[in-house]
Amino acid sequence: MLAHFARRSVVEIEPYGWEATDALIAARHRLPADTILRFDLNTVPSAPPSWHAAMTAARDEGGPQEYADPTYDELTRLLGGYLGVAPTQILVGAGADEILSIICQTFLDPGDAVVVTAPTYPVHTLRPQQLGATVRVCPLDTDFSPDPERLLAAAVGAKLLILCSPNNPTGNAFDPALIERIIAASPCPVVLDEAYAEFGDWSAIPLLDRHPHLIVVRTMSKAFALAGMRLGYAVAGSGAIDLLQRLRPTNSISVVTARIAAAGLRDLPAMRANVARVAAARGPLVAGLRAAGAHVYPSVTNFLLTDWGGPDAAGAVAARLERRGLVVRNYAHHQFLPGHLRITVRSAEQNARLLAALRAG
Ligand SMILES: Cc1ncc(COP(=O)(O)O)c(C=O)c1O
Repeated sequence: MLAHFARRSVVEIEPYGWEATDALIAARHRLPADTILRFDLNTVPSAPPSWHAAMTAARDEGGPQEYADPTYDELTRLLGGYLGVAPTQILVGAGADEILSIICQTFLDPGDAVVVTAPTYPVHTLRPQQLGATVRVCPLDTDFSPDPERLLAAAVGAKLLILCSPNNPTGNAFDPALIERIIAASPCPVVLDEAYAEFGDWSAIPLLDRHPHLIVVRTMSKAFALAGMRLGYAVAGSGAIDLLQRLRPTNSISVVTARIAAAGLRDLPAMRANVARVAAARGPLVAGLRAAGAHVYPSVTNFLLTDWGGPDAAGAVAARLERRGLVVRNYAHHQFLPGHLRITVRSAEQNARLLAALRAG
């Protein structure tokens, strides 16, 4: 009955869905909760080495009764140093998801159009829909490349064009020349979600000088291993940042997060070691999944898109793994990827556990 009073665009929204929680899976299969391994969230398996010292410092040096520096000046300067841009080109937020929300709120009125690719990160569709915007979906080609002509035609009259490279859930990085062509010709602002950029070998950040309508979205959730801390950021020209800044929620980054994120940025070798570990563990996992009967798409990221030949087969594999406490992202009935599963590359030992479960049948 309440739905009758809610905005129509809200009632029509398909909410974001997750796989079952550790507690639920443990209860469902009578497993100890601490044995559940998540291959569904594209996170890295271990915390940054700087974590413990930074937590201790956070505990000892500042009480929780005080706010963090509301300008997040230190964090912004460290990010600027890491990326080689001025601090005025950065806006920090509680995860890339908050940054995507700020961008959408900055540009979209109800009824405005947004161009997104498919398949991609569902939030690119969800946030605009939450604001009552219309989403124009441009499917990727069969090799998961974007089609510039199609995207640019759809962008006429739109307020935002959102791309993701490396793309989730397909794992491929788009050709930089294609990305730049799309940015250069786009009649509206372009958002490039680079949540997985550290795993690849290219970023659009150097293009910002030439393209003031480009906004790059990044996160410390993935290569920096800080998903639970919630730290994301936008990198753009200072004109764009000035606009986004007006919509930034005050104090959404906690004192603890600001400190842990700063410690992570002071230890770039640890982040690079994560990237190297993922790259080393990916090959054997690909080989094992192929041996188990999956088609595995090429990936530059810390996850693999796998095709099991149909919804029933994919569903059965996901269920079999879940019974052993191994959770994968289940796309058995996905609109664009039926019969697929997305599997995070974890540590060599954890990947071996997944492959052993597949072999055991
Ligand atoms: C492509 C993409 N963008 C953004 C996010 C959200 O990142 P954050 O944890 O910083 O909100 C994710 C998380 O999985 C993602 O895959």
